[in-house]
Amino acid sequence: MQHSQAFSPRRVKNIRAFQGFAVSTAPQQMTFDFDTIIDRTGSDSRKWRKYAGQDTLPLWIADMDFAAPPAVVAALHRRVDHGVFGYGMPLPPLTRAVVDYCASHYGWKIEPSWLVWLPGLVTGLNLAAGAFGEKGDAILTCTPVYPPFTSAPKNMGREVIKVPLARRGSHYEFDWAALEQAVTPRTRLFFLCSPHNPVGRVFTRAELEQVAAFCERHNLILVSDEIHCDLILEAALPHVPTALLAPEIAAHTITLMAPSKTYNVPGLGASLAIIPDATRRMRFVRATAGIVAEVNNFGYVACEAAYRDCEPWRQALLAYLRGNRDFILDFVARELPGVRIEAPIEATYLAWLDVEKLGLAEPVKHFEQHGVGLSDGAMFGAKPGTHVRLNFGCTRATLAEALRRMKAALARA
Ligand SMILES: Cc1ncc(COP(=O)(O)O)c(C=O)c1O
Repeated sequence: MQHSQAFSPRRVKNIRAFQGFAVSTAPQQMTFDFDTIIDRTGSDSRKWRKYAGQDTLPLWIADMDFAAPPAVVAALHRRVDHGVFGYGMPLPPLTRAVVDYCASHYGWKIEPSWLVWLPGLVTGLNLAAGAFGEKGDAILTCTPVYPPFTSAPKNMGREVIKVPLARRGSHYEFDWAALEQAVTPRTRLFFLCSPHNPVGRVFTRAELEQVAAFCERHNLILVSDEIHCDLILEAALPHVPTALLAPEIAAHTITLMAPSKTYNVPGLGASLAIIPDATRRMRFVRATAGIVAEVNNFGYVACEAAYRDCEPWRQALLAYLRGNRDFILDFVARELPGVRIEAPIEATYLAWLDVEKLGLAEPVKHFEQHGVGLSDGAMFGAKPGTHVRLNFGCTRATLAEALRRMKAALARA
């Protein structure tokens, strides 16, 4: 299959091109380029390697096709130039960057001692699953949801109780009656994804208060994965850290966050668990002993620069992603009959598409055959054949071409 006009090689820059990113030194004059296509096909990208040698646009795994913010790239260059890559540790300026970020973005005052550094957020989910309770205990979560929410409990010998989110109008919401029915005396933890991957919800303060009250009532530790919190597309819907709701809620909460999604550095593996309660923190840390590797030198450097120096870049990114989101909404409504965007996509760069009406036994395979690689909704707990997830963290040209191919795929469904 040939690339369309949008994929003319003249528009494709070499992977090294981002080193010359156009950035002025005065922050107020910074401009950022999300339109230039950086060729990742020859790189170590898992996203692009999946379809190596095929003309398939990968819109599956959740990383973006954009270069990391210039300030992150510059900080990494400085670190590389140092030339010595011994065992690292988080230094006070990094901790300060995290503390200041949480305060300035969310009004959340955290103590440096609450931070536990991790090489990945999935590591944090698995650690939490194993650190509390015993084998045979249960962990509750709401589906559809990012697959490690359901695999981590199993990895740790825990039962996973899945309660479907309820569709109410154009929204997914928690199904309180079903949750009350599903919780058991052996349930120890609640895995919350806030904002939500894949349905794109930004939960309101009232909803989060209900989650917290439910956990308190059933004596559950609340594990709140907030990796997408800096990717809110609806300015009117602020992210509320679960642990900010009240000190007694914070005491039961393990917050997981990372700069990896927003600043597009997931390959550098720097994530955080924020655990205010000292006893729970100690248990969690004990579970890491001898197993969980230290964050690498570059992860720390990228995290510090991302949280301290990249707000103008993040704002520009959000504007671009909003444009992509609106583009998809419009295209799907006009050009893809039988495909439905389930919810408003309030956050993330992930669109959850209902394709059930197409009547395809294997929608992902069908779209792959027409040059678009999506994630299978069944991996997130949806009924097979009913949903796919589309990653729109890519250039508008890539997105437009992918949607054009999906339209062509529909004609042959
Ligand atoms: C909700 C959620 N948590 C965790 C992760 C992955 O985190 P990490 O790569 O740090 O393990 C993702 C990636 O898509 C995610 O969407």
